[in-house]
Amino acid sequence: MDTVNELVLGIETSCDETGVALVRNGELLADVTATSMDEYARYGGIIPEIASRAHLESFVPTLDAALEKAGVTLADVDAVAATAGPGLVGPLTVGVSAAKALALALGKPFYGVNHIIGHIAVDELVHGDFPEKFVGLVVSGGHSHLLLIKNIVSDVVELGGTLDDAAGEAFDKVGRLLGLPYPGGPHVDRLAKEGDPTAIRFPRGLTSGKNQALHQYDYSFSGLKTAVARHIEGLQQRGEEIPKADIAAGFSEAVADSLVGKAIKACELNDCDTLVIGGGFSANSRLRALAEERAAKRGITVRIPPIRYCTDNGAMIAALGWEMVRNGVDPSPLNITVDTGLEREVTILR
Ligand code: KG4
Ligand code: ZN
Repeated sequence: MDTVNELVLGIETSCDETGVALVRNGELLADVTATSMDEYARYGGIIPEIASRAHLESFVPTLDAALEKAGVTLADVDAVAATAGPGLVGPLTVGVSAAKALALALGKPFYGVNHIIGHIAVDELVHGDFPEKFVGLVVSGGHSHLLLIKNIVSDVVELGGTLDDAAGEAFDKVGRLLGLPYPGGPHVDRLAKEGDPTAIRFPRGLTSGKNQALHQYDYSFSGLKTAVARHIEGLQQRGEEIPKADIAAGFSEAVADSLVGKAIKACELNDCDTLVIGGGFSANSRLRALAEERAAKRGITVRIPPIRYCTDNGAMIAALGWEMVRNGVDPSPLNITVDTGLEREVTILR
């Protein structure tokens, strides 16, 4: 594959992070992120209207900071990539509009790319080129998907995904049940380290019998979340103390066991020796440890980017944009809109 020296600008605004990054020839020159996350703690969730306004406020300062850090100017940019979906309509529209305007003003191509695939693509900036085929697991607050990837720009097959809650979402809900601050995921993770993961065995959805056969690569976390709620209710009714750390540990174990079990199976059944994990939930310590442990036993390599590249950022979009450029993919037309539910297999929007 040819390497190209084009300078690619990546823009990410699908949720609450305004991310702008610059990549040249697989090298990340700058990656700057502004977030409106702090504004949502009192609501217990993201407010799309607030996020859209925050992107409008932050975009130009974030762009300027990225250009300055990379030591380049807008005139040096050869291609502009932005997240076209999936995500929230207002936030996506801000980023795509900005990207189109820049591409038009600079007379350069525009690529409206898939956020989920970006979560995988970013790993190339850290660990180098991908193998010929591999399995990707994208886990975040809104997504849990298992992908078979033969070409990051043109051949992505969705093997399965969550039927209900995403992994991060389930953690945030259990965080609320345990009285922890929003977003609960990192707090539950921290608490789990103090608990005994074998003290309470919570169910692993879709991992046995007919459900497993029908949903070989799918996940379900809502039953697990309900099981945690029932367990807490039972203790409360009996006036017993709630062993929060053991609950967090048992719950974390169930989620990690489900995610890793099916991801490893996907590698084995599809002859892949590499598993790439991305998305904000890959910060989860139990997921990381269990993936390493089980993969090592089977000779599978696990690639997980550093945490700052797992949460939403511009680098993931610049990485995927760079792949589009070096693979000679046709740019997106400038009249595309955004696609809040963009299918996992669509790498670029047209
Ligand atoms: O990818 P991300 O930053 O945003 C989305 O696109 O959703 O993912 C954030 C999600 C949140 O649900 C957060 O609670 C969860 O990932 N999370 C964690 C951990 N760090 C973040 N969940 C469990 N353990 C963690 N260490
Ligand atoms: Zn994401």
